[in-house]
Amino acid sequence: MEIHIVADADAGAKVVADLFERTVRDAGDSGAVLGLATGSSPVPTYTELIRRHREEGLSFAACRAFLLDEYVGLPAGHEQSYHAFIRDNFISSIDIEDASVISPNGAASDPAAEAADYDRRIGEAGGVDLQILGIGSNGHIAFNEPGSSLASRTRVVGLTRSTIADNARYFDSPADVPVRAISQGLGTILEARRIVLTASGEGKAAAVAQLAEGAISARWPATVLQTHPAVTVVVDEAAASQLELADYYRHSRALESDIPLSTDR
Ligand code: F6R
Repeated sequence: MEIHIVADADAGAKVVADLFERTVRDAGDSGAVLGLATGSSPVPTYTELIRRHREEGLSFAACRAFLLDEYVGLPAGHEQSYHAFIRDNFISSIDIEDASVISPNGAASDPAAEAADYDRRIGEAGGVDLQILGIGSNGHIAFNEPGSSLASRTRVVGLTRSTIADNARYFDSPADVPVRAISQGLGTILEARRIVLTASGEGKAAAVAQLAEGAISARWPATVLQTHPAVTVVVDEAAASQLELADYYRHSRALESDIPLSTDR
């Protein structure tokens, strides 16, 4: 796991955007498969990628993308659906085909079948080349809440009270927040070839410390990322504030600053 402690969200966005740019350019005409997250954490990265598209000609035209999750019960057109969020915050402003950006159908009549089908479609696309993740204050990634199987596949999950409270800021009232979602499983996410997780703010500090330094456990689902060979974590000072080994991470990044990111960390 490679941990970058950065000064602020803009500095973090550049580190993450560099990974996206390299993935997209390396795939060339065959097209990278991108794994996209919603929520506030990836937005500065998306803003930076939109800038690179507009000002530097970075093209996503050959790419396909899969979202991590979707609320059950919200149709694609709902303004708080993740289908809408990723269009508003990223893909409407780049040159990827709209139909190439795929998310679970939250309005499916059989959400369990939709989840299984979604998992299958990711595999059929050849798997995800680069997956961006945020992290919940309770340590969830996607909507794999504490207690999730570390081998879980895409499925219907119930959201914890803390996740519902965290997400209420996007809705008129906490009562409007959906209580279930279709979420990629931890086992599904681990199949991505490279993963980058980004977090900022003190509210994420405990989860980030567990992610990097805690025992692997369903209590803190993000700890499963310790088993993946190519994970980059990009955190600001506040989110890094409970890391015991923060000085070491700073020191080792400085030593490695001339070395390109390897595939195995
Ligand atoms: C979003 C997702 C969630 C968020 C997490 C952090 O697709 O799967 O796991 O990444 O809840 O949310 P923010 O970034 O809003 O703090």
